[in-house]
Amino acid sequence: MTNRLHATIADINFEGILANASGVHCQTKEELAELLASPYVATAVTKSSTKEVRTGNPKPSYYEFEQGSINSMGLPNNGFDYYLDYVSQDHSQKPVILSVASLSMTEGIELLKRVQDSDFQGITEFNLSCPNVVGKPQVAYDFETTHQILTEVFKFFKKPLGVKLPPYFDFAHFDQMADILNQFPLSHINSVNSIGNGLYVDVETEASVIKPKKGFGGLGGAMILPTALANVRAFRERLNPDIKIIGTGGVTSGEEVFAHILCGADLVSVGTELQRQGIGLFEKLQHELLMIMNEKGYQSIDEFKGQLKTM
Ligand code: SIN
Repeated sequence: MTNRLHATIADINFEGILANASGVHCQTKEELAELLASPYVATAVTKSSTKEVRTGNPKPSYYEFEQGSINSMGLPNNGFDYYLDYVSQDHSQKPVILSVASLSMTEGIELLKRVQDSDFQGITEFNLSCPNVVGKPQVAYDFETTHQILTEVFKFFKKPLGVKLPPYFDFAHFDQMADILNQFPLSHINSVNSIGNGLYVDVETEASVIKPKKGFGGLGGAMILPTALANVRAFRERLNPDIKIIGTGGVTSGEEVFAHILCGADLVSVGTELQRQGIGLFEKLQHELLMIMNEKGYQSIDEFKGQLKTM
């Protein structure tokens, strides 16, 4: 692994900048171990965990099409204890990020108290943005509730904590959310989760393609790249520099990894394309990124991170 690609979040060093997007190849300890074993993966993010084991929504709950994917997985996961146990083990010096879902304020706070009381010293990511649990809105679209939850959490949480955000589509919302986030000692944001509640229609069968929620689900993959980049950029311009950014969304090649970093991402995570191609994808992404850097004469990502030019 070359140190041309590195990042630091909450004083934790990452050798490399690539990760899985939570939800892909991270539900079991074996999958997480496979990610960490890749020399091209800087960190593994666990599947967002809930207090109880969840089987998730009825299948089919994931569908790929040319421009991307649609999913309504419904947070299938092996339960919080399973992931806390895994991240608390030693992983040969590679950081592991523990993703915790917030199905209710009470549950989220209970789980984060257990992280605080545990031996785990790494980064926790609080998922405020799952669009797929029936009856549970995406918390981070409710600014008042987000502020309230973070206020409660930071009364007791002293370890590194970031949040996984949904995409925003309006400058007023970038401003409002950044104002809230800047009030807290967050390690990072992870931006973006899927674009919630899209609908893919198969014209031949005249039907939707996933079973839950009558076909509505979160959109990912190539088609969400401009939205992902806009969110990374908008938040990089608004957040305190100490709040780092994991850019997620729309990565299929080294070119999109480069674009995420140019917009201000510190780490870049990959969902749909990882699901499509498997772990071998990371070697290709790193190779392509380094080729672009070589062509442009950049020795390190620090030379272009956040340096997007505008007209
Ligand atoms: C899911 O399990 O439904 C996806 C997780 C997420 O979007 O946060």
